[in-house]
Amino acid sequence: MSITVSESDKSLLSIVEDLSQEIQAASVGSEDEAEAFRVRYLGQKNGLVTNLFKRIREVAPEDRREAGQQLNALKQLAENTLATAQENLRTAQRADRDRIDLTLPGHRTLVGSTHPLTQTRNDLVQIFERLGFTVAEGPEIEDDWHNFTALNFPPDHPARDMQDTLFIEASEGDDSGVLLRTHTSPVQIRVMENEKPPFRIIAPGRVYRNEAISYKSFCLFHQIEVLCVDEGITLADLKHLIYSFTRALFGDDVKLRFRPSFFPFTEPSAEVDVWFEDPTHPDGGKWLEILGSGMVDPNVLEAVGMDPERYTGYAAGMGVERIAMLRYGIDDIRTFYENDVRFLKQF
Ligand code: DAH
Repeated sequence: MSITVSESDKSLLSIVEDLSQEIQAASVGSEDEAEAFRVRYLGQKNGLVTNLFKRIREVAPEDRREAGQQLNALKQLAENTLATAQENLRTAQRADRDRIDLTLPGHRTLVGSTHPLTQTRNDLVQIFERLGFTVAEGPEIEDDWHNFTALNFPPDHPARDMQDTLFIEASEGDDSGVLLRTHTSPVQIRVMENEKPPFRIIAPGRVYRNEAISYKSFCLFHQIEVLCVDEGITLADLKHLIYSFTRALFGDDVKLRFRPSFFPFTEPSAEVDVWFEDPTHPDGGKWLEILGSGMVDPNVLEAVGMDPERYTGYAAGMGVERIAMLRYGIDDIRTFYENDVRFLKQF
């Protein structure tokens, strides 16, 4: 520091010099040291720097300006040293608080998975959407008309017995035919009653049957219904659709077998089997049924007020459980509904 002051003020200036060195060397690494520093240099009553200001009167008037500047610089130094120390302490405290203890046991986040039936349904829906179908829905509580009559099940026809279900009685002896739907086919009727052709829909959903529960049947399960009605739809369109869909699901080399069958709402009707290789089987594999299908019966079109001379169509229905069982090699349908995490977490 080069200061030009008179001889009498030397003592004050040398004190400034000494204090400046002392402040620069001061240890302010803890809260206590920082507080001691503040009291020692900047304390209101007896702070060393504070006190120097009181002595400015001793300085010759012509040197006061200079001395004042020196004192201000010293005060600034003390204040900055303190502020920096306090900021460092705060940063260190924050780091302490945020420090991660790697030895603590972690919080395990339990991530669920989609139920295998939901996965299979989503995959099927996606395939049909790519083929130009849109999703339609209908109620699980149906009436006799939509579940049976409009689908060409005549009253007392034995085909009704194949789909025994749970009937809902509004009151004792009520026979209005409200029931839990036995298949997703009633959605065909609801869509055709309410909208205009052409129709190209799929209807995924839950259905109910009064069945003896076993490894292969349950009182509720899921189906996906397919309906396409337009002018000029033929059996070739149905076969094309079934090939496109099964190739997307099982691969391009899928082998199919169309087996003549009967459904009241289609004529002709066919069940479709897929060939599954199985080296342990004497024939090297086996045919497994995956869906029912057929050309929409003219009686169904008439039931919804459409002209069967003008419109034709095809329909198909498949069980989601059945397809999921084939896909994942599951041999007991009941495992889908038990909600056993050991089963579910494999998917
Ligand atoms: N609704 C039938 C059932 O539950 C499945 C079915 C077969 C649906 C043939 C169809 C079809 O649309 O054409 O057993």
